[in-house]
Amino acid sequence: MKLGVCYYPEHWPEEMWPADARRMAELGLSRVRIGEFCWSRIEPEPGHYVWDWLDRSVEVLHKAGLGIIMGTPTATPPKWLVDRMPDMIALDEQGRPRGFGSRRHYCFSHKGYAAECDRIVAAMAARYGNHPAIVAWQTDNEYGCHDTAVSFSNAACDAFRHWLAAKYKDIAGLNSAWGNVFWSMEYRTFAEVDLPNLTVTEANPAHWLDFRRFSSDQVVAFNRRQVDILRTASPGRDLIHNYMGFFTQFDHHAVAADLDVASWDSYPLGFLEQFWFTDAEKLRYARQGHPDIAAFHHDLYRGLHPNGRWSVMEQQPGPVNWARYNPAPLSGMVRLWTLEAMAHGAEMVSYFRWRQLPFAQEQMHAGLLRPDSSDDVATDEVRQASAEIAALAGEAGEPIKQVALVFDYQSDWVTDIQPQGQSFRALRQAFEYYSALRQLGLNVDIVPPGRSLDGYAMAVIPCMPIIPDGLVEQLSAFKGQVLIGPRSGSKTADFAIPAGLPPGPLQGMLPIKVNRVESLRPGLVATLGDGSIRQWMEHIESDLVAEMTTDGGVGVCYRNNNLRYLGACIDLANLQAVFSRMADEAGLSVLALHQDIRLRRNGNLVFAFNYGREAVAAPLISGAELLVGSLIIPAAGVAIWRMA
Ligand code: GAL
Repeated sequence: MKLGVCYYPEHWPEEMWPADARRMAELGLSRVRIGEFCWSRIEPEPGHYVWDWLDRSVEVLHKAGLGIIMGTPTATPPKWLVDRMPDMIALDEQGRPRGFGSRRHYCFSHKGYAAECDRIVAAMAARYGNHPAIVAWQTDNEYGCHDTAVSFSNAACDAFRHWLAAKYKDIAGLNSAWGNVFWSMEYRTFAEVDLPNLTVTEANPAHWLDFRRFSSDQVVAFNRRQVDILRTASPGRDLIHNYMGFFTQFDHHAVAADLDVASWDSYPLGFLEQFWFTDAEKLRYARQGHPDIAAFHHDLYRGLHPNGRWSVMEQQPGPVNWARYNPAPLSGMVRLWTLEAMAHGAEMVSYFRWRQLPFAQEQMHAGLLRPDSSDDVATDEVRQASAEIAALAGEAGEPIKQVALVFDYQSDWVTDIQPQGQSFRALRQAFEYYSALRQLGLNVDIVPPGRSLDGYAMAVIPCMPIIPDGLVEQLSAFKGQVLIGPRSGSKTADFAIPAGLPPGPLQGMLPIKVNRVESLRPGLVATLGDGSIRQWMEHIESDLVAEMTTDGGVGVCYRNNNLRYLGACIDLANLQAVFSRMADEAGLSVLALHQDIRLRRNGNLVFAFNYGREAVAAPLISGAELLVGSLIIPAAGVAIWRMA
């Protein structure tokens, strides 16, 4: 695994570049990402390119032995461009322009902007595409960040109408698929269809779902244009995009189909603060991040490409600037996060950013260096990690296949459009299942539907309302243990309730019928022995005898051979009891890990990570030689064993 850093030569006087490059190399870094926001400096006036400064910075970095990941600058169109075509600006759901003055102010559907992107990407690729220092390209930056994968502009509306016409061919088909007879919503032509925002009360969920699918397709198409240019002009280089944490606004599997390597931007403390975690979890893990946040995304993004190629493009090195609260990582966490990425098979971890910038929006965001160029806290940890990675070179191998967790983006769109109970989301459901499995010491891979399940002992589908074609056949052929979670099979592809009631097509494998669903406010629970059902509860009719029932006698989990359906959100202990039973039947052994400890097996290596603030005794790994760390793992510590 290589280490790298995100660097912005345009932010610093040129005299500083050589020393920066030398210090990067001395720290053990061999990759540097540059360029992704520099449009106003390479094209300060329309059509007038200024490359000399970027040429020189590429040479300086190259001379220091660093391989360059060049970003295309399309996330930050300059002011002159926006003024030339003001309608390239995206509009938010309230119809307000997402104006110039920060970034990502473009609409994915604007044809004029797309042509400008072709031009700047082609110019950059022509300039640097065959330079020996360029090892990879990053397309744009974080598609969808700041809620920008959707736009409600005229350009988007036009493109949406065309997309609908291509999908439905005639308007009667659309009316019937969406059920527009309801509330007199029928259209006579595709030109009459507007975007689903600004309606009096909620728009038709089928309308929203098609809009989400369309918006995702626009991101895929936007990315593909860059890919087509870069593939030709810069052969042999990896094409990468940097995805985000807990972000589902577009189908990442579809974008990845055009790229070579997945990468993501890992800010465990910011994500803990900004997402659904309880106050108790936010306090307990404020300086470490929840123990499953980084790993969940490592496994999610490793699953984007069938060959498993992935990296961390941006790694938090200290406090960030954008969460509600921005604490500093516990001493040791930057090293832990780095080694954890290695345990999950990353090709690279690149820190964001090299030096804290004293001006503009991110001035409060830490880097590896302080604004005065002195080493900030993380540099020692990076140095240590770099030496440890070098010492372990050749040890790590193929990830061990145990559990496949099947996730698709559409499931999260469906639950987001129609939560039915506040904050129910397929993504959260996936995270919670992942976390429960991992706390049992199991290796979990996150894969899209349709990816081969060969070699896995268990498959888990946390929540998949629309069952994609082929999945039932795939699951029927799978010999391992399967668990399917609530709301799966509850919608048709047109966002309607299936004719035979949920779980729709899954009934072919499992004779159950969901007769009623209810969502439960916090505090309203159904008891399940020592645990409980919260948030979501289905009432299931079946000739099968339930494997788990509420104290009131409502069936919760049904089983047919190797397949189980769980129709509720249940507490961790009960969920783990189900998983443990499955693991047992599948021939996997589980561990009772301390709540702050996580394990990851990779080839012959076993890694243990202590996400707690106290030292914890390492789990017993029999027949293994301890290579790194000690049997008492300190706070933020790591232990690594080699299996015999
Ligand atoms: C990422 C982004 C970077 C930087 C960073 C700050 O979302 O890609 O450009 O803004 O966050 O944490």
